[in-house]
Order: sequence, then structure tokens, then C-alpha cells
Amino acid sequence: MSSKSIAVMASGRGSNLKIILDAEAAGHCPVDVRLVICDKADAKALDIARQAGVPHVIHVNPKDYENREQYDAECADLLDKHGCQWIVLAGYMRILSSAFVRRFRGRIINIHPSILPAFAGAKAVEDALEYGVKASGCTVHLVDEVLDGGPILAQAIVPVLDDDTRDSLHARIQREEHIIYPATLKRMVEEGFTIKGRRVIWSK
Ligand code: GRF
Repeated sequence: MSSKSIAVMASGRGSNLKIILDAEAAGHCPVDVRLVICDKADAKALDIARQAGVPHVIHVNPKDYENREQYDAECADLLDKHGCQWIVLAGYMRILSSAFVRRFRGRIINIHPSILPAFAGAKAVEDALEYGVKASGCTVHLVDEVLDGGPILAQAIVPVLDDDTRDSLHARIQREEHIIYPATLKRMVEEGFTIKGRRVIWSK
């Protein structure tokens, strides 16, 4: 089974990026991270990628582009130039333009810290706590034009405890993210899937 060439796009701490790189290095996840794109110069994700020896680690500065479309077009050209088959979003905090989503339709994957469709958006963990749910979790999904709205590949659930803060709940969710993100990428490579309506049907 040949591995998939992927790019990871990240904006922050990069713990999901690190888990994917570790899984690749250990031979547990058949992906080849060729490129890491980051929109923030001081993101820890950049250091993680460099330390792991990712061949192309690039900070694309939004300030150098007039608008989202131009920024995304530059990123898209980099993804094509480096032969990336899939684009894995890992804490990437920019909303993708619809032209970008159309260009890579079905090839962009995201992880979100809630059980979608509940609590889409940038404040998912706070919103879940504030709402008072007793369980939350994370969702790996394909990206379409709707924010956090594409077909769901995998979900994992965690309890919400009475004394949870945003940080304690997020930490519990991230432990699950670090299991299901590499596991889902592995499954995508090894099993494949079809989509019926909104449903992802795994091939095995
Ligand atoms: C994760 O909680 C993910 O669900 C969300 O952003 C966070 C990124 O964390 N999209 P990290 O940068 O991978 O540590």
C-alpha cells in the first residue's frame, strides 16, 4: 500500500501535526507529510515541522496578499507544486475561500473540537461548556463550502465534568483528537470510502 503525499496547514500549537508526524515516522500512518503551511510566523507548528525534517515548511504571511482569494491561490499553487494529494487542516484558523475548496474538493480534511453539527465555529469548546452539554468530543470531516459542515469521517466522545474549564475540556478532547486523526488518515489510505448523501461509507 503506497502512502499518500499530504500537506498540513496549521496556525498554532501543532499538537495534531506532531502526532501525525510521529505516526508517520513510527510507520503507523501511511502518509508522507511533504509540506507544512502556516499563516503565523511564531506558530509552534513551524518548529515542530522543521524539527521533524518535513521537506517544505513555509510561512505564508497573509499581510503579503490583498485578500483571502489571493492568499489561498498562493497556498494552492504550493500544494500543487509539491504534489500534495491531501490537505490536512490541523488547527488552521483561516476560513478557506470557496475557490480553494472547489480546487481541492474531497481532498481537504479537518479536525474540529466538538461533535458536529453541534458547536461549529472557532469557539467550539467554550460554546459546548456554556451550553451545558454533558458530553462533547471531536470530529474529523471532509471540508466543503459550509464552515465545519462537510461529510463526517470519524468522531470520538468525551464526558464534560462539572469542574471543567475550557482548558481542561479541550485537553480531554485533544487526547481523543490525537488518536482519531492519524487513525482516520490511515483508514482513508488503507480502506477508502464512498459518499452517499452526507454519509461516509467505509469500504471494509
Ligand atoms: C484542535 O483542537 C482542533 O480540533 C482545532 O484546533 C485545535 C488545534 O490544536 N481545529 P493543535 O494546534 O493541533 O494543538
